[in-house]
This record gives sequence, C-alpha cells and structure tokens, in this order.
Amino acid sequence: MIKFSKQNPVQYAGDMIVYCVRQNEKKAPICVDDIIQKTINRVFEAGDFVGREGQVLLYYPDVDSKKNVKRILVVGLGQDELVAETFRKAGGTIAGTAIKTKAQKIMVVVPEILDFDVVVMAEALTEGLRLGAYRFLDYKTIDDPDEQPGKLVEILLTASKYAAVKKGLQGGEVTAGAGCWARDMANSPANYWTPAHFAQHGRKLAKKYDFVCKVLAKNDMKRLGMGGILGVSQGSAAPPKMVILEYSAGNRKKTKIPTLLLVGKGLTFDAGGISLKPSAGMHEMKYDMCGGAAVLAVMQAVGELRPKNLNVTAIIPATENMPGPAALKPGDVIIHYGGKTVEIIDTDAEGRLILADGLAYGIKQYTPDYIVDIATLTGAVVVGLGHHRTGLLTNNDDLSQQLLAAGDKSGEPVWRLPLGPEYTKQLKSQVADLKNLGKRNGGAITAAAFLQEFVGDTPWAHLDIAGTAWDFTEKSYIPKGPSGVGVRLLLELIRSWK
Ligand code: BES
Ligand code: ZN
Ligand code: ZN
Repeated sequence: MIKFSKQNPVQYAGDMIVYCVRQNEKKAPICVDDIIQKTINRVFEAGDFVGREGQVLLYYPDVDSKKNVKRILVVGLGQDELVAETFRKAGGTIAGTAIKTKAQKIMVVVPEILDFDVVVMAEALTEGLRLGAYRFLDYKTIDDPDEQPGKLVEILLTASKYAAVKKGLQGGEVTAGAGCWARDMANSPANYWTPAHFAQHGRKLAKKYDFVCKVLAKNDMKRLGMGGILGVSQGSAAPPKMVILEYSAGNRKKTKIPTLLLVGKGLTFDAGGISLKPSAGMHEMKYDMCGGAAVLAVMQAVGELRPKNLNVTAIIPATENMPGPAALKPGDVIIHYGGKTVEIIDTDAEGRLILADGLAYGIKQYTPDYIVDIATLTGAVVVGLGHHRTGLLTNNDDLSQQLLAAGDKSGEPVWRLPLGPEYTKQLKSQVADLKNLGKRNGGAITAAAFLQEFVGDTPWAHLDIAGTAWDFTEKSYIPKGPSGVGVRLLLELIRSWK
C-alpha cells in the first residue's frame, strides 16, 4: 500500500528511510536530513558510492545518531538524462532492497527538487515500487519462519509538492495494480486459469465498473459461425469463451467519441494441438494467455481512470489448444466468422485463428474506429527482436507513431516490422481462401498478414508480445516470469490518445 505522507522524514521511525541521489553531484545532494547528508558526503569522498544507476548504499544508523529509523537506503539515479524510466527503476531497486532486508514499513523521500515533472516522477516511482515488490506465492508453502519472504506492508511517499505527488501516486497505483494483476493471471497455472476464469473475471469487472459484458459460449459461437475459436478448442475438454467488455465514455450513439477495440489472445494453454509442441519448455505455454490478461487488466484500469475521450471495447477469445480426439487436423478447412475459409497447415499456428474470429466479430458488431490486438503470437518475433521489444505491425502510420511514443514513455518499447503483398501472398491456399501458415522465414510478419485479412480498412495495429510477455529485459521492477507487458503500453496509448 503506497500512501502520501506529510511527515518530516528526519523523524521517521519505520524500518527504512530512502533518499535518491544523482551520480557525481559532489555536493551529495537531495537530502533533507543533515545527519544522513553528512554520511553520504563521507561515502562520496571515500568513493565507494557515486550514485550510479541502480547503485545502493544501505546502512544502519548507530545509537549515538539518535535516529529511530532502522535502516537508511540511498539509491543512485545515474547521470543520464532523467526520464520516467529512471524513477521506475529506482522504485524497483527500493522495493527489492526492502524485501531482501525484510523491511516492512518504509518511507521514500521524493526527489522533487530535481528538474523533472513531479507528477511523472511520483507516478513512475510508484509503478517501480509496486511492480518491483511483486511476488507470486499463491502455491508456496513456507513453514520455516527464517525462510519467510520479506513483505512490504506500508510505503510512504513524502514530499512538499502535495498535489503533484498525490496525483502521480494515484495514477501509478492504477497502472501498476493492473500490471500486477496481469502477472497474477499469467502466473496462475493452466489447470486453474481456464477460459471460464476469463469469463468470470470479465463479469466481475463489468459489475464493478459498469461495463456492458457479454460472454459468448460454445453454442453462441456455433450460431455465429466462429469456426476459428471452435476449431482450436475442439481438442480440449475446457469449453471456449469469448469475453467482451464495453466501456463507454459517453452515449455511444449520440456522441462522436471514437471507439478503440482491444483484442487479446487468451490461449490458456498451447500444447500445439495435433502439431504437438516438443515437451521441453511446454509448461511455459500457460503464458499463452498474456495478451488476454493484458487486455483484461487494461480494462480494470480503464474502469478506474474512466477516460473521457475514448470508448474502449475489449474482446478476449479464450481457449486451450490441445490434441484431444476431436482436435483440428492439418488439412482441415474451417469457416471463420464472416465466411472466410482457412486451410489448416499447422494446428500450432492457432493464435491467429482465434484472433481472426475476435477481430471480424468486433468489427461487425462494434464498428470500432481503431483496433489494437495483442498476442503471444510467434516464436519468430523472439528470433527477430529478442526479449527487449514488442513487435508492432500495423496498416496505419498514425497508430504506429502513437504506439511507438507510448512504448518509450511507458518503458515497454515496441519496434515496427513491415507488412505487404509479398508476405500476404504466402498465405494463398489451393483449397481455401487462405492457409494458416506462410513460409518458414518472416513468421512474425506472415502471422500479422493473416490477421490483416480480417480487419479490412479499419486502422489496426498488432502487438506480438511472444518475446516480452515473460523473460522481458532484466530490470529492477521486472521479476522473472510474466512481465505484465502491454498493460502500461496500452494505458499510455489510451491516456495520451490523439
Ligand atoms: N504461442 C505460440 C507462440 C510462442 C512461441 C509464444 C514461443 C511464446 C514463445 C504460437 O501459438 C505458436 O505456436 N506459434 C508457432 C507458429 C508456427 C507453427 C508457424 C511458432 O511460432 O513456432
Ligand atoms: Zn501455437
Ligand atoms: Zn499459441
């Protein structure tokens, strides 16, 4: 729990007080406590600590100093230009150190005297603290008291710029809270987090935030002709769901507010189907629902923030991809929502099949002005971009600009890859309108080219998060496991919508 406090940090008597310093500022700066400042000066002189980014100085005040606080932590901010990410990382470092030392109650002195927007600073610090303190322990039994992991129970941000810090804190709580929830969903094992869970949580959100919620079940999908999601789910015992949430900024019929449609791949376990994946590493395919989790988490934040300039509709096609006796077979032909036929070459290229139904249905039913889909779609994007950037493929330069900017600002960078007829051509089938697989090379692009066939002229962007949904760039506020990527990116897109 992060709260604003007006308490004088000099008198703070909790488990840890935290100051931030810039690198090589010889005056050894940004500290309101003379006693601590003197120590920092000495350490600077000794040369042990210079305030490099991520560097920490942790010490325990001696009895003569008459300090009641148990620990003093000084965190380096580096010497590079200050950006939001500087404070996000500092927040992560603080949270990590507190948990390691088992400090439960801490106070962070916001370095508001630096030449940087205090709202953005407080927001990024909050995000880093919350995301950096994240642990997933739902399934762990820890009996030995010495082995109990540290847990932050109270974080106070203290500053004099009350309104700015409070505003940033509230924004950061919402985005980071959503990011943590996306991680929780992803961390949950596939025998717990099923398509029905997506539906259940969608309904819960709708109730809390007054969204319109619709859950399409198997018989609805049959009636509507959604051969993509139905086909993929055939080999599994878990019934598929398509979860739809609608947030309206105003009366949709009377106002001219644009509608953004978000579609997230909610593949709760991808065994590959009949084109079975190798067993090594297959357990990671419980994360194949990270796109859906990001979209659901974004809707939670949308419910909190209630943007005025944008309607947001969310669709999560959710299913497993298993090789059961009724499973889709290579060579089968499916008929998607809207009538397009697809020849299945590889049942492991299933994400595009469920997204195609979601996209086609979303366009027909909700006539969105813009679409962004997000999916752990291809291993090929990991080959191309590694674990550091999300792949962006789009038919619209404006959307591209907005997403690139949102990526930089949110610390979830994206990189644009091309589309074009030379790629789309690879999806020609002898027997159907399309096939679900292109040539081996350029797989992230042909996957997106497949989706493009279902969006028509609507401005659309596809985010391939296969490389970033887990094992994302190592940073203080990103733990091992699922990163919650896409949540901050999409929220930044929505909040700075042009
Ligand atoms: N869910 C996978 C993609 C994936 C791979 C995500 C690795 C994260 C890490 C997707 O459904 C898939 O299996 N894609 C295949 C497509 C291939 C059969 C054309 C792939 O990328 O190998
Ligand atoms: Zn697959
Ligand atoms: Zn998949």
